[in-house]
Parts: sequence; structure tokens; C-alpha cells
Amino acid sequence: MPVMEWFQPGHVAIVTGGSRGLGKALARELLGKGLTVIVDGRSPDALERARRELSEIGDLIAVHGDVADAAHVHALLKAAEGAGRLDLLVNNASTLGKVPLPAIDELERETFRTLFDVNVFAPIHLMQHALKLMAGSDLSTIVNVTSDAGVEAYPTWGGYGATKAALEHVSRVLAAELEGSSTRVLVFDPGDMNTEMHRDAIPDADPAELRDPADSARALLRAVEAMKDGFERVRASDIEAAA
Ligand SMILES: NC(=O)c1ccc[n+]([C@@H]2O[C@H](COP(=O)([O-])OP(=O)(O)OC[C@H]3O[C@@H](n4cnc5c(N)ncnc54)[C@H](OP(=O)(O)O)[C@@H]3O)[C@@H](O)[C@H]2O)c1
Repeated sequence: MPVMEWFQPGHVAIVTGGSRGLGKALARELLGKGLTVIVDGRSPDALERARRELSEIGDLIAVHGDVADAAHVHALLKAAEGAGRLDLLVNNASTLGKVPLPAIDELERETFRTLFDVNVFAPIHLMQHALKLMAGSDLSTIVNVTSDAGVEAYPTWGGYGATKAALEHVSRVLAAELEGSSTRVLVFDPGDMNTEMHRDAIPDADPAELRDPADSARALLRAVEAMKDGFERVRASDIEAAA
């Protein structure tokens, strides 16, 4: 398939966490390419604001809920079923657990559990069911959004980082299991972005030194379009350097 033709009008994408940050920027890009985009978020007000704004661009379906809630995951998938197909799943919604981020010896069991529920178990649950819907697509992609904290050992980032490392490994194994199928798996590191999550984690960071989430969203789409293998791990900055 030629580069730049992957995203086609009529294709359907689920992007978790679409009310702000990277998820919203991604939804905007995908709607601009004519896709039907299903997004979610826990705050009804933020999601409604995003829905109103993004609906002006294209076919946006907003489903309010928490990805850690199995019934909500099924509601997302039902929305894709209603749209008739599923070509792209982006597991973008994520939590830091507790802020300020605690060192490992202060990381409470309940926080660790929430981190894994949202950042690992929810994406796995979505992937398991999405695969059935993706069977109807000629070429489909699962994107799991990761972080450099999943590979680097930054003090206090152990809980969040462990979830991203786990998500990355599950992605690799899933891609190996899907070898020869029409579904690929991309692990995407968007870089340090000027978003609420970054402000929560590092409040004194200089916003001027952070990436615009819209740039990371565009890099993610280019990474999907350029995929040659069933599994790739890509950083937004790599895509930009190669352009
Ligand atoms: N920001 C960075 O510098 C950075 C760096 C590396 C990787 N990342 C990764 O990039 C992704 C996007 O991050 P971001 O900075 O755009 O985050 P963000 O600004 O905090 O936005 C997160 C989005 O996800 C939603 N969300 C959070 N928890 C959810 C849940 N349990 N169920 C459903 N929706 C949920 C949020 O809405 P509600 O709060 O209303 O639910 C919001 O729409 C994440 O996977 C993050 O780990 C970010």
C-alpha cells in the first residue's frame, strides 16, 4: 500500500482519552482525513467541550467513561460496531497514579493497582476485543502510546514506567502472535508534550521546551503510514528527523 493512503475516509478509529492533550490532537487529525473517530474521557464536561469542537471537523463519537471499567470498554467497541468497522485503535488514555510521583518505597499498593488497571489491563482488554472487529479491515493498526519512562530509569517514575514497559512487551508479543495477519502493532513515544499530564508530573517545566501535542499526533500518523513491519517502536522525534 503506498505511503500516505493508509487513512481513508470511512475508516473508523478509537482513540482513548480524547478530551485533551495528545488524544484530542490525534482525533482532530483523523477527522481531518475523513475518518469516523470514537473518543472517551472521564470528565463529562471536558468530553462534551471536545465533542462540540471536534464535531465541526467530522464524524466524532464521544463515549463518556473510564477505560478501566469493562462496561465502558464494551460501549466503545459497540460504537465501532455501529460505525461498521474498526481500522485503528489508539490506547492513549493513561494515568500517572499519584502526583507528586512517589519513589518505589513509597508507592502504595492501591496506586500501583490503579496504574496497571488504566495503563495496562484496559489497553489489553480493548485490544482483545478490537481484534475481532479489525478482522473486517484489509489493514488495521493498534497503537499503544508509551513513554521514555518505560525504558529509562528515572527516579520516582517506577510505577508509571513499569506500566509502560509492560504495555510495550505485551505489544511485542501480540505482534508476534499476529504475524501474517492484517493487523500491525505500533508502540509510539510522543516525547515530552505541553499537556495536563506533563504539568501534573513536572509543574515547573518550561512549556517552551515541550512539544505541541499536535506535532506528536502528526508524527504518530506518519509512523502508522510508514510502518513496514508487524511491530515497530517509534519516537515522535525519530519520525521528524527522518522527514
Ligand atoms: N505529556 C507527556 O509529556 C507524555 C510523555 C510521554 C508519554 N505520554 C503519553 O501520552 C499519552 C497522552 O498523554 P497526555 O499528556 O495527552 O495526557 P493528558 O493531557 O492528561 O490527557 C489524557 C486524556 O486521557 C483521558 N483519560 C485519562 N484517564 C482516563 C481513563 N481512565 N479513562 C478514560 N480516559 C482517560 C483524559 O480525560 P479525563 O481525565 O477526563 O478522563 C484526557 O482526555 C499518555 O499515554 C501518556 O502516558 C505523555
